[in-house]
Amino acid sequence: MTKKTKEPTLDFTTNWAYEPAPEDTKHITLKKQYDLFINGEFVKPNSKKYFATYNPATEEKIAEIAEADEKDVDKAVKAARKAFEKWSKISAQERGKYIYRIARLMQERAREFAVIETMDGGKPIRESRDIDVPLAANHFFYYAGWADKLEYAFPGRTPKPLGVAGQIIPWNFPLLMAAWKIAPALATGNTVVLKPAETTSLTALKLAELIRDSGLPEGVVNIVTGAGKTGAAIVNHPDINKIAFTGSTDVGKIIQKAIAGTDKKLTLELGGKAANIIFEDAPIDQAVEGIVNGIFFNQGHVCCAGSRLFVQESVADIVIRKLKDRMETLIVGNPLDKNTDIGAINSKEQLSKINKYIKIGIAEGAEIYQSSCAIPGKGNFCKPTLFLNASQSHRVVQEEIFGPVLTIQTFRTIEEVIEKANNIPYGLSAGVWTDKGSKIFNLTSKLRAGVVWANTYNKFDPTSPFGGYKESGFGREGGLHGLMPYLKF
Ligand code: NAI
Ligand code: MG
Repeated sequence: MTKKTKEPTLDFTTNWAYEPAPEDTKHITLKKQYDLFINGEFVKPNSKKYFATYNPATEEKIAEIAEADEKDVDKAVKAARKAFEKWSKISAQERGKYIYRIARLMQERAREFAVIETMDGGKPIRESRDIDVPLAANHFFYYAGWADKLEYAFPGRTPKPLGVAGQIIPWNFPLLMAAWKIAPALATGNTVVLKPAETTSLTALKLAELIRDSGLPEGVVNIVTGAGKTGAAIVNHPDINKIAFTGSTDVGKIIQKAIAGTDKKLTLELGGKAANIIFEDAPIDQAVEGIVNGIFFNQGHVCCAGSRLFVQESVADIVIRKLKDRMETLIVGNPLDKNTDIGAINSKEQLSKINKYIKIGIAEGAEIYQSSCAIPGKGNFCKPTLFLNASQSHRVVQEEIFGPVLTIQTFRTIEEVIEKANNIPYGLSAGVWTDKGSKIFNLTSKLRAGVVWANTYNKFDPTSPFGGYKESGFGREGGLHGLMPYLKF
């Protein structure tokens, strides 16, 4: 161990149920400028360039973020390589302790993480507070537990770490995706160079502060910020052993090409266009809640969002009527207000992409419905939107919109809905609502989706694997499966 470490404070009584209000922003500490986290300290970028990060709900600049170039990435990879020599050799139990410490510190600072996540990314504080941050901490807790049990996880085999993992994450679940990536990598004895998305770097940088405070040996986790060019510098670095990417299918394809012919390992977690299927025997009110959660959770910036609704014809009228009524009750607005259901769209670019698709849907002839709620005059906001009578060939049905936009199709038979649900380039997730267990089992085996929820939607747990088929990518994160991409045997 290079550093003397502080004993962690054991506090399992952290009260999660605080009531955030806009004035909460007064109690958080943000710097004006953030540097790169390399080898256990914050360092200036080689180029001396910084870019701004904005609050998408107010359009105000929050801070400046360092832009890492190839030299910075190289420095981070060298630090990670050096740290790997020690980190991969300390006892697995010791490694576990460090990861537990990160988990506990995250729990203690949960409030600050939640507020910053919401300010920087636009998601409702209720979601950051109740879902993103606790789940991120739980990922560290869960993988800490695996650190000294790898031989039990893979009996009869000798699992070994790969080396340095390059990890690139998106802007829809910034802290949670960092946890999904870092926790299993550390538990398996790898070291990390992680890049957050350019619109949402702040919670990853707060995590860097936390990691520094936790006493984790220097260089085990390095966090470099920047946009696509910085990401590409990680992907193309010759001394990286594994790339883990979550983001768009387009960039996933670029990465796959870039590492072809090298011996880098790769996992890709890409886009989705999930079918959420409601049968006539489903509990209708519960299903309507599931539809709302499926598409409007996190403004629809969710790779596994239930963005294609399939309703059995006999109940289509009642489901759509109840869905419209429920949409009227949704509050769109200030993400820091705990009553808000739908926050701000993450960036201007994403808002114009969503608006482009809304125009496309109208031009394609689908019938548009938007809730009558007011949206703030300033900031990036979008009304919850439905496209009724959508058809399979519509672009709004085939392409990932990544916003609060739901297409609705009806079906008569199971065969028809399976065919339509699978007739899409993606295969990440799906939802099924029915009273019959036999129908659920029949469908789950026939839907080409990595995750299928039955009578619920968007439920996440560190113990269960997550990942896709087809253009949604390959490899699994979460659970025991999530250890495998970081090990060789
Ligand atoms: P993106 O795929 O460009 O960004 C994701 C991450 O990849 C970011 O950290 C970005 O800086 C990095 N990146 C960009 N170009 C790269 C390259 N050439 N090499 C390495 N890293 C690179 O996603 P973007 O442009 O922010 O969003 C566009 C669309 O992608 C969205 O509208 C949505 O449809 C989809 N998307 C899907 C996500 C998912 O979880 N399935 C997450 C984010 C976006
Ligand atoms: Mg991009």
